[in-house]
Formats: sequence, structure tokens, C-alpha cells
Amino acid sequence: MERQQLIKLVEQMTIEEKVDQLLQLSADFYSEVAEERTGPMADLGITEEIIDRAGTTLGVSGAKEAIQIQKNYMKKNRLGIPTILMADIIHGFRTIFPIPLAIGSSWDLEVAEQMAEVSAKEAAVSGLHVTFSPMVDLVRDPRWGRVMESTGEDPFLNSRFAEAFVKGYQGADLKEDFFRVASCVKHFAAYGAAIAGRDYNTVNMSERQLRESYLPGYKAALDAGAKLVMTSFNTVDGVPATGNKWLFREVLRKEFEFDGVVISDWGAVKELIPHGVAEDEKEAAELAIKAGVDIEMMTTCYTQYLEELIEEGAVEAELLDEAVLRILTLKNELGLFENPYRGADEALEKRWILSEEHRNAAREIAKKSMVLLKNEAILPLNKRDKVAIVGPGANSKDILGAWSWQGRQEEAVSLSEGAQAISENVLIGAESFDYFTPSQAAIDEALKLAKQADKVVLALGEREWMSGEAASRSDIKLPESQCQLFEQIKEVNPNVIVTLYNGRPLDLTEIDTAKAIVEAWFPGTEGGAALSEILWGQYNPSGRLSMSFPESVGQVPIYYNCDNTGRPFEVTPDEKYVSKYLDVSNYAKYPFGYGLSYSQFSYSDFCLENDELVSGEVIEASVMVENTSDYAGEETVQLYIRDRKAEVVRPIKELKGFKKVKLSPKEKRKVSFMIDEKLLRYVHSNQKFTSDTGVFNIMVGANSRDLLTLSFKLTNR
Ligand code: GLC
Repeated sequence: MERQQLIKLVEQMTIEEKVDQLLQLSADFYSEVAEERTGPMADLGITEEIIDRAGTTLGVSGAKEAIQIQKNYMKKNRLGIPTILMADIIHGFRTIFPIPLAIGSSWDLEVAEQMAEVSAKEAAVSGLHVTFSPMVDLVRDPRWGRVMESTGEDPFLNSRFAEAFVKGYQGADLKEDFFRVASCVKHFAAYGAAIAGRDYNTVNMSERQLRESYLPGYKAALDAGAKLVMTSFNTVDGVPATGNKWLFREVLRKEFEFDGVVISDWGAVKELIPHGVAEDEKEAAELAIKAGVDIEMMTTCYTQYLEELIEEGAVEAELLDEAVLRILTLKNELGLFENPYRGADEALEKRWILSEEHRNAAREIAKKSMVLLKNEAILPLNKRDKVAIVGPGANSKDILGAWSWQGRQEEAVSLSEGAQAISENVLIGAESFDYFTPSQAAIDEALKLAKQADKVVLALGEREWMSGEAASRSDIKLPESQCQLFEQIKEVNPNVIVTLYNGRPLDLTEIDTAKAIVEAWFPGTEGGAALSEILWGQYNPSGRLSMSFPESVGQVPIYYNCDNTGRPFEVTPDEKYVSKYLDVSNYAKYPFGYGLSYSQFSYSDFCLENDELVSGEVIEASVMVENTSDYAGEETVQLYIRDRKAEVVRPIKELKGFKKVKLSPKEKRKVSFMIDEKLLRYVHSNQKFTSDTGVFNIMVGANSRDLLTLSFKLTNR
């Protein structure tokens, strides 16, 4: 449809049809079984008529249901307007990929795009049109459960991943490519900065910090073409995002030039009341529509009060019309007026859902996301090793992660299954092993197997429900019983390799004496197979952390791109009056960008083409990277920059580039980065994103700690 036709369509709609176009209801309301509808209807106090007019639908899970809902919906819609079917496909639909925090640790943008493309395909053939992904909230606090949905603590890396996810979900031609879905970037804005890491808590920061660290990820997703934005539950400078005119009208719509659909997060419009900025649902509706929220998810403030607000003159009718037009425009961009069922197809579901190709992709991506944190020459295992696979994660299929909605644990490959597919020389326990209170029988069995083995793989970690939404933890250690088990196992066999299934950076103090530690995250459907390939060296680990692992939760928030302060610890570490703790270091246990490999890489000959960069020109920075081992491997060469003096305090380093290089044994290669003035820009106190002339440090290396440093000057000559 042309835009003019859409505008005409809006003109033909009654006010009730317009208002209800802004309502999103879950698929339960469209169940063919009337009884399944009456409960939810009563909860929301709405009628069948409103249900039939609600503009979009949340949570459809298969082609058959999608086709059924759309067919009934179109039959009842006076003007033939289709609904949009939306859902949370965060890291996979039925084939589940590693959690986004794991994908962030791959530092591989192709992997991210592939994950999104496969997820979109499975979702699209199942009848979905929109995914509430990517979540690009920057996170510096591992207590916050939704850190598992993020790609970590860095604005530059988050932005690159945001672009890759949107590209994978939407492809090049969303209207015609029925294997794609529209993406909805979330949660706008700064949801990951909840004070104390407690979900839904207040967010408080300067506009400059917001713009410098938190907004870039959303902007990158929008610049990549994301079609929707979801509001966040939190406040931004004292005003809840969902009612925040400055955030949505000024920043999102005017500055970012976004004219797509804004959807509230679940219930967030009505939550303006408990936030204390709306007296009642009527005022909540007024605040949200004036802020520019187009779709109200799962509450009915708009349905109940928008018409009245317009009649009273409290809300201009144009605000309603523009919201309706944006929603109809999205339906048009999805081609739903011509093809209301888009990709929904039961035969294609059978062909693609959990297909061999998709399982293979999930396994490859899981391998690239895992991070080898420690290895005292005990990995990789070989098939002659008699290996005991013990602990709560050994046989566990609870490895999909908290946002694996359609994923089925029974379809996941456990570590013990993956191990047995590689080596016959493994000892596997039969007892089920609780993550918190294991039975004595399970412990005894684990100890017996450990005694008989040359090496022990002790699989520890979190349960899926311990991270994700509404899953903040004040203590980020492993459960006590697992730490005790580690000590007991080590007593009977010191050759202990710990593997971790978890959704957040953890305080790993209690298992620090393990001979090796492999961070597997929640690795998805093929997780156990991928982890086994790493353990037995069929894949050389290449993951690098995209978020710092603290020594202690007391250091949090701890992040690599911190400020120097007026009393930097490094300068006079023995001084009392410097920025430090009495009882723990200032440093992460495992820093941003860190990860080991079975190869060893050395860096040398770091040089700059010129130590002066004239604004508008480019200089090359290059470094030689050598694989000094006998093991082919992949290194992620990282580039950081520090502005030595600026109008506002600048971080001691900021990631500005990275390159992944595969090196054969003994191979040496030159890796280059092109440096231009744009890399040196930052948000000034006037909120403008510009650079200053002056001296900069430039650093390259294997992670944010081990770096070679040079300097150069930016001039305007
Ligand atoms: C949840 C989440 C949001 C999700 C939405 C729909 O509360 O905050 O990320 O997309 O509801 O399920």
C-alpha cells in the first residue's frame, strides 16, 4: 500500500477502531476455546469486540495457531486490517543458541547475524512477524539478572552486535523475504543501569553519561533499520521511560529521526501509577500517548480512556492518528495487507524447525562463545584420558537460558552426551545431581568416579531461572554445596576442570584453584556437544569476555572503561589516600576482552604510520601477531584509545576496534587498524558528540589489560 492509502484507511476508521489498534493482547485472547478467553478478558475488563479490534498480538507459537488467529481476525475486521504477531525470540526460536552475553563473548559479528537469521527463519515459518530483540541495554552490574540478555559492558561492542542482530532478523527486504521478522530494539533506555542491580529499580545518571555509554547501542540498532522500539520499565532522570516525552519525542524521534512504532514493555503504561507520576489509568494513558508510545502491551489505559481524553481536549486527536498510522505503516512494511499470513507454513515448520542445519549452526556458535578462563596445561583432554564427568551440570539439559521460550530442554545435548559422542573413556554418574542440595548418594558417586579417573570435569553453575527477568542476585558466587563439592573432588583427584553454565559474570573465588575453568554460559540446544568439542580440543577456544568478572561483588559496578580519578591507585599503590579498597583489589578477576586459547599468541612491532593525525585524514596503526604454539587458533586483536586530556573526564581506555585473525602454528601476521578523528569523539558537556585536538594513547593487545601502548596527537593543521 502507498502512504496515501494508509492515511485514507486511518480516515475511514472509527475512534474505537483507532484506539483499539493501539492495544496488544496475548494470543490467549484468541483461543478457539472460549473458556480460555473468559479469564484473561475478565482480568483486563475487556469485551470480545475490543479483542477483535486489538491491533497486534503477543506470543503466538506455531503456524497453525498463527493462521487460525489471522484468519479469524481478518474475518471480523471491518476494514480488512490484519494483526501483527509478535514474540520474544531473544536467542533462538526452537533451536536455541547461546544467550546474548555468550554471543557477545564470541566477538564475532557474523555469528550474531547468523543466530538472528536462523532464529528469524524458525519464527517466521511459525507465523511470527516481529521479535522483541535485540536487547541492547549496556550492563555493568552482574547482580542484574537480565545481563544474560545483553552483550555486555561496552558501548562500541554492543553497537556492533546490535547492528548484526538487526541485519540478521530483518535481512535486505523485509516485505518480500518471508523468512525474516521485524526487530524491536529494547529497552529504551538504560534499563541495565538499575541501581544495585535490582530489576525494575531506579536508573539515575547524567544526560551525558546516558548519551555516552547507554544510548549508542539503541542508535546503532535504529541506524541498522530496526522497525520498533520498546520502552523500559525504569525511570530516566526521574521520569519513567514509558511516560518520558524528552526521551521519546526529543531524543528518539527528533534526534535519532525514528518514525517507527514504539511499544510499551509489558504493563509499563499502567505502571506509571505505582511510579507515582500518574494518578490513575486515565492520566497514565495521557502521559504515554504524549510521550509517543504507540502500542500499549497488555494493559488497557488507552482502550479505556483515550477517546475520553480526546473528547475533553486533553489529548489531540492527531496523536492518536499518528500512532495508528505508524502501526499500519509497520503492517504495510511487513506486507501483511497483501500477505497476512507471511511465512506461516506447517510444511516449512517441519523442514526448518530444529533442522540439522540449525543444530549445526547452534553448535558452531556455542563453541565460538565459550571462554577458556584458566588452563594449567590440563586441557585439551585426549581420548586416552579416563575422564569423569560429574556435578550438577554433567547430565543437565537446563542449559537453554531464561529467554528460551519455545526451546525444549529435552532436545538439548547434555555435557555427558556430548562427551560420550567423542570419547569412550568417560565415566558418567547415574545419580541426578541437585544444583543446591545434592543427595549424599550423588556426592558419593561423584567422588567414586573422580577417584577412578585421570581427570575430572566438574560441571557447575546456575539454573536457568537464576538469571533473566526478575532474577537479580545479591550474591554472585556459586551455590555453597557446589563449592564444597569442588573441595571434596579436588581432595580425591587434583586434576579438576570446572565448566560453568551461568547467565552472568560470577565471583569464582571458591573454585580458583581448579586446574582449568571453561565458561560455557547457557550455551543452548547443542551446548553439551559444543562444550565437549572444546574440552577434547576439537575446537580451539576463541571466546573473549564482553563483561568483566569481578573478584568480589563488592567491587560492582566494575568495568574496564572506568575513569582515572584524581587519586589513581596505579601511581602510588602503597599510598593510603588513593582510590582503592582495604580488602580487595581494584581489578576484575577476569577483565573485559580476556580469554585463553590452546594456542599462544605474541604481539610485537606495534607502530603508527605517523604520530600526528590531522583531522580529516587517517593514520594506520599496525601490530605483528604471532601464533608461537603448535596449535592453530583464532586471536581477537583489540584496539583501545585513551584521550589524555579533554573537556570532561575520559575513560582510561575505550574499545575502538577489534579484528579476529586465524593463525596457523608459528604463523605471524600484521594486523592493521585505520585511525581517524571520528574514533576520538565523545559527548561534551554541551551534549555534542565531537573531538578535541590533543594527545591520545593508542593500545593494542589480547584483552583490555595486556596491551602495547603508543601515543599520537590530533591536530587541525
Ligand atoms: C517482558 C520483558 C520484555 C519482553 C516483554 C514481552 O516483561 O521486559 O523484554 O519483550 O515482557 O514478553
